[in-house]
Parts: sequence; structure tokens; C-alpha cells
Amino acid sequence: MLNGEKKISRPLRWAMVGGGRSSQVGYKHRTGALRDNTAFQLVAGAFDIDADRGKDFGVNLGVAEDRLYPDYQTMFSEEAKREDGIEAVSIATPNGTHYEICKAALEAGLHVICEKPLFFTSDEVREVKALAEEKGKIVGVTYGFSGNQMLLQMRAMIEQGKIGEIRVVDLQYTHGFSCNDEADKTSEAQKWRVDPKVAGPSFVLGDLSTHTYYMSQLIMPHMKIKELLCDRQSFVGSRAPLEDNAHILMHYENGAVGTMWTSSINAGCMDGHRIRIVGSKASLEWWDSKPNELTYEVQGEPVQTLIRGMSYLDDSCNTDERLAALHQEGLSDAWANIYLKFAIAMDAKNRGDEETLKNLVYPDIDAGLEGVRWIENCVRSADKGAVWVNFE
Ligand code: NAI
Repeated sequence: MLNGEKKISRPLRWAMVGGGRSSQVGYKHRTGALRDNTAFQLVAGAFDIDADRGKDFGVNLGVAEDRLYPDYQTMFSEEAKREDGIEAVSIATPNGTHYEICKAALEAGLHVICEKPLFFTSDEVREVKALAEEKGKIVGVTYGFSGNQMLLQMRAMIEQGKIGEIRVVDLQYTHGFSCNDEADKTSEAQKWRVDPKVAGPSFVLGDLSTHTYYMSQLIMPHMKIKELLCDRQSFVGSRAPLEDNAHILMHYENGAVGTMWTSSINAGCMDGHRIRIVGSKASLEWWDSKPNELTYEVQGEPVQTLIRGMSYLDDSCNTDERLAALHQEGLSDAWANIYLKFAIAMDAKNRGDEETLKNLVYPDIDAGLEGVRWIENCVRSADKGAVWVNFE
């Protein structure tokens, strides 16, 4: 159980690039990083593409004015001159900027937390992974909801054979907020998402399904995709060649089959993030709208709803417990869990503690690499006309 007590000797001095006043995701980073006062301290920032707006925002967050910078380059070079300079940075900017900022941060000797999808190509990720290794730094990726501990319960139950051999993997991450082109014209965050120069080779595949794909890997680390078929389309035509809807069929190496539906045109859907794993004896199901519950259905027995915080759950799940049963947890708690693990990983890396790093389960650069590979394979299949392709 977590109660905010320190897990590392002192909080890491932390900054953000992006995540400014108007950003969708910035506050999620801050609620995650700052939940445990003992993990990170926000001491600097280049929060906004508009320097004045970024400075005004940083002042309102309580960051010292002389540590609010007009851009990330100035922040990295000025902070490097300080005895108490930043040690870690989070990158919460549009996709097309991640690669350059991530490289610059590592070159500046910083640990990095970066938004998904990490970069545009897996070659870029491999290059940055090598750079991180050379510099002895951590790169974490914010698959936010993956910090929900009920996913670790699923992982434990699958590993313990509670559902038997996995046969079917049924994944979905959909919403309806882009079912017409209104937001494409009015929302800054939506405009870049449908521009391949900034978003990369995909819209919903990268924006949504990378989360669910990582979560599936988290709960089934032994399951590798052998081949997949992706059919993607843009129901709002102006978004082409990027997709606002896609269906993927998967064949796993062990003979299991899977599907993923990812979409931003699932009109009316407010409840569209779901993982169902069907085994030879039983099934497990989790929805993000009920993150405190896990459905366990054993063939021939009454359906069980496992509840977060209860002592019958696996230790690996309850280690990340914060509020105790009876009190609901949600997305903010999941972010706090992954941020705490980022801090533990960075501290372990600083101390050369490879044992801690080996046993820590969190979205690291390999998780970022897998997300980019997932997009590449889906796009390759779709652009060949929705054909089966080997997962490369
Ligand atoms: P947004 O467009 O709402 O906000 C982007 C922010 O970055 C703004 O504050 C903007 O001023 C700032 N910015 C842009 N370029 C900058 C630069 N060069 N230097 C400093 N600041 C800069 O975008 P949103 O929706 O917040 O997405 C940002 C990233 O987060 C994307 O990669 C997106 O895929 C990801 N994301 C992840 C989520 C998650 O659950 N992990 C949820 C939403 C977005």
C-alpha cells in the first residue's frame, strides 16, 4: 500500500516541456508526478510554444520566474549551469516534436518521460534507446491508465493459470469526439492530430490504440504477435491519409487470436476502453470506466467481480494500492503509480542498482518502441489494402 512516504532518498528535480495552460495532457503529468511529494519536485519549465503564455502559466503553478524558459533548448543549457539544476524532464508536446526534444534532453544528461506515441519510426526509437544507454538515463513513456493496479491483478491471474490457455484477446479503445470535423477546425489539439507532419503516420492508431496495446502486453508479457491485418479508414474525408477508425486482426505466436477496434468516430461512446482476455477455462475483463473492478468469469460458475483494495487480490496489485477499498481510484491514481515507478527507476539508474530496474514493471523505452512498431505494422498492412503482414 502506498501512503506518500519516500521510496527514494529525495525527490528528483523535475521540469516540463509543453503541457501548458491549454494542453490536454499537461495536468495529468503534474497530478501524476506531484501526487507523491517524495518522488518529483516541479522546479522549471518551458511549458508552451508561446513563451509569454508559458511563463505566465508557470508563475501561476508556483515555479520560480527565473526558471521559466522561452524554449527547451534554453532550459536545458541554463539548468545545466546550476548546482540545483533539473535532473528529469517530461515532454508533453505534439508528437512530431518528441524525437528532437528527447534527444536534446538525453544529451543534456537528463532522465526523460515522454508522451506516446514516442516517435514516428522504430529506427528513431532504437537510436534514442542507444543514446539513453550511453548516457545511463531512463526514458519512460506515459501510457497513463497502465498504472491502474487491476491490470497487474490480471497479469498475476493469467500467470497463475486462472483462466487457462489464452485463446482470444479482445481490445477496444474508442470514443466519439471526432465523429464530425468540427473539432478539426476549432481545437488546436485536434488540428495537429490529423496533420501527418505533426501527428506522424497515424491518428487513432497512435493516439488511442498504443495505450491498449501496451496494456495488453503488460498483462500478457508472454504473448507475441506473429502477424496482423489492419483495415483503416477516415470517415471524415479531410483526415485522409490518417485514419479516424481502424480494425485490427491479430494472430499470436501461440495460436491465440485477437482484435483491436480503435476509433474516434464511435458516436455517443463515453465508455470505450476495454480489455477482455478469453482463456480455455475462464475470461477476465476490464473497462476504464470501472477501473476499480475486474470481471472474472469461470465457465459454469457465477460471474465474480473482483474489487480494488481487497486483501484477496495479488500482492503485486495491492502494492500499488492507495486509497483502500470503499474509496474509488481512477486515472489520476494510475498516473501517480507510473510516475512513482519512473522516479524509482531513475533513482536506481543513478545508483547503478540493476536488480531494482530488472524487477520494476513500468512503461519504459521498450514499451515506447513496441508502440511505434505496432503503428508501423498496422499502417503497412492497411496501406497494402488490409492484408496480413508479419509483425516486424
Ligand atoms: P495540446 O495541443 O493540447 O498541447 C500541447 C502543448 O505543448 C501546448 O501547451 C503547447 O503550447 C505546447 N508546445 C507545443 N510545442 C512546444 C514546444 N516546442 N515547446 C514547448 N511547448 C510546446 O496536445 P495534447 O493533447 O496535450 O498532446 C500532447 C502529447 O500528449 C501528444 O503526444 C499526445 O499524443 C499525448 N497525449 C497523451 C495522453 C495520455 O493519456 N498519455 C492524453 C492526451 C495526449
